[in-house]
Amino acid sequence: MKRIGIIGAGIMGSGIAYLAALQGFEVVQYDTLEGAVTRSHAKALQRMDQAVDAGKMTAQERDLVYRRLTEAHDWNAFKDVDAIIEAVVEVLDVKIAIFQKLDAVVPAGVLLATNTSSLSITAIAQATRRPQDVLGLHFFNPAPVMKLIEIVRGEETSDVTVEKAQALAEELGKETIVVQKDTPGFVVNRVLMPLFIEAMRMLEEGVATAEDIDKGVRLGLNHPMGPLTLADFTGLDVDLHVMDYMYDEFHDDRFAAPLVLRRLVRAGHTGKKSGRGFYRYPSNK
Ligand code: 3HC
Repeated sequence: MKRIGIIGAGIMGSGIAYLAALQGFEVVQYDTLEGAVTRSHAKALQRMDQAVDAGKMTAQERDLVYRRLTEAHDWNAFKDVDAIIEAVVEVLDVKIAIFQKLDAVVPAGVLLATNTSSLSITAIAQATRRPQDVLGLHFFNPAPVMKLIEIVRGEETSDVTVEKAQALAEELGKETIVVQKDTPGFVVNRVLMPLFIEAMRMLEEGVATAEDIDKGVRLGLNHPMGPLTLADFTGLDVDLHVMDYMYDEFHDDRFAAPLVLRRLVRAGHTGKKSGRGFYRYPSNK
């Protein structure tokens, strides 16, 4: 594979685009938000400038990688790609509309992947006339750094498509696991969301401070970030969305979003500020 189409220029779309360019792919990226792709590429350039300053990359390498990042201005830009990775907002209808558009322009047999964190791959695949070519490629934030990609099969995903995804992941320098059954949250978020929820419930119950809950998990379990900081890093709005979806699908209290999370999101704390919201929680004081 040589050329990848990325739909979305938020945190995940930007991270995946940058990763793919670093690994030698030509990247064509699209976002409906004016200026989003330009900002995404500027951020990649800024990271590479830091790497050049730190002696981890040459200026020539930086320029080469930067030239591989291009913007798509309409869907026709995806006519000649080898794979597509969609990484837009976690709203099923939005993803379905995108896959319908892709179905109309992308040649049959091209790998069509969604980076959804929890939604049904089968439902997204059914928006196309080639559900056998569709699967989940779930990256983790920050995509250029995290080692894993979850490959998630929809009900109709073919073995050939899974093999293509494995080959792509390898070219991207990642390890994979294959999620055989299309279930909400797949493997990693099915484990991660109850961890977040339990940490938030302990905070609500006053079991320990936010700092100590995070420190306990960091030092006691060797996690690089405590769960409250990590929940913030992944985006509190995203976490709430994933929990609500998993709760609706499983009807299981293990996935019931804590009030503290709902209130923080309602108050506009959408995360990425290293535990800011939780660390100010009243019972903390
Ligand atoms: N893009 C590219 N590179 C990045 C980056 C980014 N956004 N953030 C960090 N890096 C690179 C740095 O440049 C640095 O590279 P170098 O070693 O070549 O200099 C390296 O990563 C380490 O970064 P830092 O020294 O700045 O910081 P840390 O050592 O503290 O690591 C971290 C930062 C990698 C984020 C680490 O804290 C970590 O692994 N945290 C846990 C992240 C995690 O669990 N992610 C999964 C979340 S769940 C998810 O995404 C699923 C979703 O569906 C909810």
